[in-house]
Amino acid sequence: MANIGKIGVFTSGGDSPGMNAAIRSVVRTCAYLKVECVGIYRGYQGMIEGDFKPMDARSVNNIINKGGTILKSARCKEFRTKEGRQKAYDNLRKEGIDAFVVIGGDGSFTGAMIFNQEFHFPIIGIPGTIDNDIFGTTFTLGFDTALNTVVEAIDKIRDTASSHNRLFFVEVMGRDVGHIALNAGVGAGAEEILIPEENLGRERLLESLKRSKESGKSSSIVIVAEGDKTGKNIFELKEYVEENFPDYDVRVSVLGHMQRGGSPSCYDRVLASRMGVKAVEALLQGKTNLMVGVQDNELILTPIHKAIKGHTKIDKELIRVSDIMSI
Ligand code: F6P
Repeated sequence: MANIGKIGVFTSGGDSPGMNAAIRSVVRTCAYLKVECVGIYRGYQGMIEGDFKPMDARSVNNIINKGGTILKSARCKEFRTKEGRQKAYDNLRKEGIDAFVVIGGDGSFTGAMIFNQEFHFPIIGIPGTIDNDIFGTTFTLGFDTALNTVVEAIDKIRDTASSHNRLFFVEVMGRDVGHIALNAGVGAGAEEILIPEENLGRERLLESLKRSKESGKSSSIVIVAEGDKTGKNIFELKEYVEENFPDYDVRVSVLGHMQRGGSPSCYDRVLASRMGVKAVEALLQGKTNLMVGVQDNELILTPIHKAIKGHTKIDKELIRVSDIMSI
């Protein structure tokens, strides 16, 4: 057992549903193993300001079902400076914190890795982002919930699209990967899915929409990942289709930040609970610089520099499924 008596936990970067369930699991695992736990507010910014609060099993009552993060999150420029990281380190030592669990994405892990290199401070990462773009885990916390949120939104858009025989372009999040667009697109029965991992061109899109119309489809949904490069942006795509395919009445819907909210799905709650236990146990076993992930439903530990540098591959088999489904 490593000589760790007090563990810090915080959330960093874009929030995601399931972060609260992960916080709850880290805090309760510490309580169960008789290790003190401290909540660090607003990520690295709170670490630099010493914004800490001791947490016990009761501190995390009734949060497993809540979206967002009770510890708040922030993007912190000061932590990119050695002075900022020194302030953070001094605060952690003053508080008696021996290690921390960072719940966030690759940007948050990069900061934790540099912090460990400079101060040899034990860190373990839990992948919390709706983008599902972190190497070393099949699923990141929040991805499953975001998919369900997007599918529900598209089902609603489909109601009005079919009532008015309209074509809708729907933009979804995912930064520069297309996992949300592809999976939610198949789940919602989108006619076309545009993702950054593929660029089949606007002409092909137009041909496909014409074929759909000729085959009797009176309305269509095209999912566009925000990182997609088929057009300059979703509004330019709309104009292009209006100019070249006047048959269609075209509208745009940008789903935006509602994809980051909502009560986490059961899958995300269970995954978060499992990952929190694994993270605390890894620290107590003297491990560091690792990210907890899930693969074939087993929890695994990946060196955090690989999680940061690695890339998640788009599911080619699912792309084929989506092509077949949109006949
Ligand atoms: O990384 C999660 C994410 O929601 C991305 O999908 C999106 O591009 C980005 O965060 C938005 O960042 P912000 O919340 O800072 O606008």
